[in-house]
Order: sequence, then C-alpha cells, then structure tokens
Amino acid sequence: MPETTGTAAPLIELDHASQVFHVKGEDLPAVSEVSLSVDQGEVLCLVGESGSGKTTTARLAAGLAAPSSGAVRYRGRDLAEMSRAERREYRRAVQYIHQDPYASLNPIRSVRGTLSIPLRRHGLARCAADVDARVDELLSTVDLTPPESYSAKFPHQLSGGQRQRVSVARGLTLSPKLLIADESTSMLDVSIRVSLLNMFTRLRKEDGVGFIYITHDLALAKYFAWEGRTAVMYLGRIVEVGPTPQIIANPQHPYTRALLEAVPEPDPELAARKKAGGGLLSAEIPSLAALPTGCTFHPRCPLAEDRCRASVPQLLPAPGARQDVACMVVTDPADPAAPAEAASGAGGGRP
Ligand SMILES: Nc1ncnc2c1ncn2[C@@H]1O[C@H](COP(=O)(O)OP(=O)(O)O)[C@@H](O)[C@H]1O
Ligand SMILES: [Mg+2]
Repeated sequence: MPETTGTAAPLIELDHASQVFHVKGEDLPAVSEVSLSVDQGEVLCLVGESGSGKTTTARLAAGLAAPSSGAVRYRGRDLAEMSRAERREYRRAVQYIHQDPYASLNPIRSVRGTLSIPLRRHGLARCAADVDARVDELLSTVDLTPPESYSAKFPHQLSGGQRQRVSVARGLTLSPKLLIADESTSMLDVSIRVSLLNMFTRLRKEDGVGFIYITHDLALAKYFAWEGRTAVMYLGRIVEVGPTPQIIANPQHPYTRALLEAVPEPDPELAARKKAGGGLLSAEIPSLAALPTGCTFHPRCPLAEDRCRASVPQLLPAPGARQDVACMVVTDPADPAAPAEAASGAGGGRP
C-alpha cells in the first residue's frame, strides 16, 4: 500500500487494521487485516452477517477503539500520532452514528439537550437562541417536524424510528466530513428510511461528506451505495470489495453470492445470475475463538479445495471483473497444484 500524506490522502484509511478482543482467556480476532479508504464525497458500504466485524471496523474508523495492529489515518495522519489539536479536529470531522439509539441516547436528556451539547462544546452556538435555531434546523433535516413537538421530548417518549433520527441529527450537529452510519436506518419505516438516505446522498453530493454505511442488507447497499463501493465482510475480513454495481450484478466470492441469494430479486436477469451461485454447505458461522484454518469460509463453501484449508487467501483482482476478491479458487483457478476436478468445477460454477 502506498504511503499517503498531505492533501492527496483519503479522508479516512484503515491500513491492515486488526482488532483482537480478549475474553475469558480467549483471543477473539473480531477484525483481521482490514484495509479500506474513503475519500471526500465517496460512499463505502460495509455488508455482512451479524458478527462479521462491521461495527468493530466502524469503531476503529471513528477512533472509538485503537487497533491491536495496523493503522487508522485521517487525511494521512495516524490517529495514534495525532496532537491534541489534530485529534479535536478529527473528533469533530468524523461522526459515528450508533446502530442502537436505545443505548446511545442519554435517557435523562431531552432531544434539545442531546443536540446542544456538541454545539456548545465546539463553540458552534453561543447563546440559547443560536442553539434553538440550530436544533430546529437539525430536527427538520431528519424529518422530525414540526421541530418544537420534539425538542423538549425525552428518549422514552419517542418511537424507535424517532430515536434513530435523533441519533442521526446528533451526528450532523458538527457538520462532519465523514459520517459512519451503523445500521442507522434499520428501525425506520421504508418511506422515512428513503428520505434519510436521500438526505445522506444530498450531503455527499453537495457538501462532499464521505460515508461509511453499514448494513446487513444488500438491498440497502444497492440503494445507497450504487455510485460507490461495497465491501463484504466475513468473520472479520473483507472477502470482496469493488464498485457496488459489480458486487451486486457480478459477485465473485461464493459468500457474496450466498448473501445475494438471500435478497429477493425482482429483476429476472439478476435473479437468474443469483441461481448460478450455488448454495452454502452449512448455515453455521464458526466461532471467532476457533476459526477454521486457511480460508475461514471453507467449511461453508461450495467451491472449497484442499488448498483453501491450508492458506489464507489474499484480496486480489478477480480475473475479468472489476473487484478484488479473497478467494484463491476465483483468483487463481488454474492452480496446477489443485486436483483437476476441483479446479474445473470452480470455473464452471461462475456466472
Ligand atoms: N467489546 C467486545 N468484546 C468482546 N467481543 C466483542 C466485542 N465487540 C464485538 N465483539 C465480537 O466481535 C465480533 C464482531 O462483532 P461486531 O463488530 O459487532 O459485528 P457486526 O457489527 O458485523 O455484527 C462478534 O463476534 C462480537 O461478539
Ligand atoms: Mg454491528
């Protein structure tokens, strides 16, 4: 990976970042060697089943946890080496919107109280009238209208969807440069979700805000990140990453294909492609405490060969496609060491 410094550096960059949790004497590698970057005005969608490491990756990008190894950089500056002033700027510029508004909103604080704290802390509102005006504006932005019906309310007086919108409004208080939205629309009705995602898109296009959008739902990735990239995570690793339309229409990793098969597809052409993917051998996700050797997906994989049990696949360009994929059967189908039967089976299964 090239060294990135100065103005050419991406907004945020994870460089082989890993996070290992230690629980009851066991090491849990929640995130392993994740490299990704997001530029101004770009959207990167992280998808994967529950437990695949999406939130842990988001927390690393948001500086809420330090990586066990590897680096996280904001505009080329390693978070671990930032001065207080740089850290303050980064804290303001990068906002994480929690996936669970029940856990992240203080129950004894009104909506106005929640939104006013960051405004005051960062000197963006000097008097009560400033705060009121900005709070009203933020509530209108997230469709909590009229704002005066919401600003005096406490979290327990709001529905799940309304709390989630308060969380989003709080993420917007400091006019961030990068928003990390962790399943932030999961509790919303479809129409409200669409209006929030359209608002995010406006922020991206008009103000150049970068997004890391996290979801377990590929249909949402397709809607929000069609002009951006999607990274598919499995057991803490990115297994496939590339332009979203390529990931959706021409998935290369057997895991991505299985995820896509779980999404109902009204488009008959895409539905036919999905059928070509082949099913998983097992529905069970292995434990992080006892990861399979080699490619951790091999016990579930319809394409698995002997070599998949022996070595960890690297993310490499998929032949004839525009994305990177961590599957040696896909990136190196003609491996002379592989049994002829398995190699030809792998090639034949691809769309
Ligand atoms: N603070 C923690 N301590 C121990 N294990 C954790 C902690 N946070 C997350 N994990 C574990 O790390 C894995 C990834 O979790 P997470 O990043 O929340 O995944 P996702 O957001 O994709 O559902 C899970 O197995 C989870 O149980
Ligand atoms: Mg999560």
